[in-house]
Amino acid sequence: MAPRRKKSGDDFGPRMADAYTSKGASIVLGKAVLGDTVYPDAVVRVPTAMCNRHGLIAGATGTGKTKTLQVMAEQLSSLGVPVFAADIKGDLSGLMRPGEKSDAVGTRVDQLKIDWSPSGHPVTFLSLGGIGPGVPVRAAVSAFGPELLAKVLGANDTQTSSLSLVFRYADEKGLGLLDLADLRAVLQYLTSDEGEQELKGIGGLAASTAGVLLRDIIQLEDQGAEAFFGEPQFDVADLLRTTPEGAGVISCLELAATQDKPKLFSTFLMWLLAELFHHLPEVGDLDKPKLVFFFDEAHLLFEDASKAFLDQVAQTVRLVRSKGVGVFFVTQLPDDVPEDVLAQLGNRVQHALRAFTPRDAKALKAAVTTYPKTDDYDLEEALTQLGIGEAMVTMLSERGAPTPVVWTRMVPPTSLMAAIGDDDIGKAAKDSSIWSKYAEEIDRESARELLAAKMSAAAPEGEKVDAPKGDGGGKAKKVEGVVTGYLKSQEGRRMITSVARGVFGMLTKR
Ligand SMILES: Nc1ncnc2c1ncn2[C@@H]1O[C@H](COP(=O)(O)OP(=O)(O)O)[C@@H](O)[C@H]1O
Ligand SMILES: [Mg+2]
Repeated sequence: MAPRRKKSGDDFGPRMADAYTSKGASIVLGKAVLGDTVYPDAVVRVPTAMCNRHGLIAGATGTGKTKTLQVMAEQLSSLGVPVFAADIKGDLSGLMRPGEKSDAVGTRVDQLKIDWSPSGHPVTFLSLGGIGPGVPVRAAVSAFGPELLAKVLGANDTQTSSLSLVFRYADEKGLGLLDLADLRAVLQYLTSDEGEQELKGIGGLAASTAGVLLRDIIQLEDQGAEAFFGEPQFDVADLLRTTPEGAGVISCLELAATQDKPKLFSTFLMWLLAELFHHLPEVGDLDKPKLVFFFDEAHLLFEDASKAFLDQVAQTVRLVRSKGVGVFFVTQLPDDVPEDVLAQLGNRVQHALRAFTPRDAKALKAAVTTYPKTDDYDLEEALTQLGIGEAMVTMLSERGAPTPVVWTRMVPPTSLMAAIGDDDIGKAAKDSSIWSKYAEEIDRESARELLAAKMSAAAPEGEKVDAPKGDGGGKAKKVEGVVTGYLKSQEGRRMITSVARGVFGMLTKR
């Protein structure tokens, strides 16, 4: 459908070309459109230097969000910038293969007057805990932290603060929380006869709340979430790799197999981001970012989140910028993202919005108010008329000022616009240089074994307690002084630091 020209201006093409020039490296998104006309000289681009100023890719289903992500990821990679992307449906896996020049692509290439040659890109496939194809990504429960875990559990405020107390207790007692079985063991201990006195010692933790948390953890395990927690913990430095030829590696977290656990994967993405924040040094503004992180299905992260959680997300996003990390949220409606976060997203790619429901209409009006004023388009109308693979764009110029809003026909990806299949993804993952580092889960001695030993010692002869279910069996070590020994060990100390830190602990300085 043709964009309506609100006010004609003969200088439109040169004006847009000028507004979107960039002396340094940049990513080409597409070409400017006004009325029925594509302006091939008006190249719409974003300087790589502005990619750490974050962004939003929004639009209704099927309007081109994932392809925009693909276009950005492949150009960033070619410029040497590593990329992380959550691949919800598996359709980003095509990034590793050269694209096909379909008729639609051919037409688009002609309209845009661009050179187009198919090319694949270096991709590492990751999976959550090895569910589905990809290098298994895991995190220790202690490093995940009580706040994020509470979000996964859908815990209320009381339960959240109780969970924090349990984490602190485990930390003080040197009970390593590596997987969910460890956390379950601690909760089981605290709610048992042996642990009664200990529980009383923890001010503010009610037995009933501990019981609720225990039930929630067991439920989470029943949903298969146990696979995500444990060791070896994923080292976020592995997201920052480049190839010997200097291309940025694109890490695709394949989530098709875990789509039914949206809370878990969205929270996991947040953990990765927080880890990056902890891991990376302060660098200020760079010519190109150290990493660009695409956060797909971002609404899942913000749904029913507590105010405290939202504040922490907003703060992480704000602070990670000076570590050279750009975050692009991908979601259907801009108001899926809380205002505090939205305000930090300098680069906007808004694909078509539908105005079917009252909520849609409201979201449309809200979206319009977040855009710079324009005389070229009637924004509200334009946003509902955009074609597939078109978007209203405003970026940050090299000077950091918002560029004028421009109706953009996006370039097609040079890589394949389709999924490559689980077998090929699995094969590529096994070929990756980091496969051997993460393929096998390891099970160090942690809270479960320590507490099993303790409860065994306390139980009368003939009533020895086994390690709670879920371990390989026979791992309970009844070693005297094991707790103090563990506390003094290097592993123990490492664990304590990571428990004390939590994911958001350092950010909030409570
Ligand atoms: N930049 C583009 N170039 C070529 N085709 C595109 C482009 N963007 C979208 N399309 C077409 O539209 C379809 C849907 O796009 P997609 O990115 O999967 O939508 P969304 O992620 O918003 O649901 C794609 O399969 C492709 O055929
Ligand atoms: Mg999509």
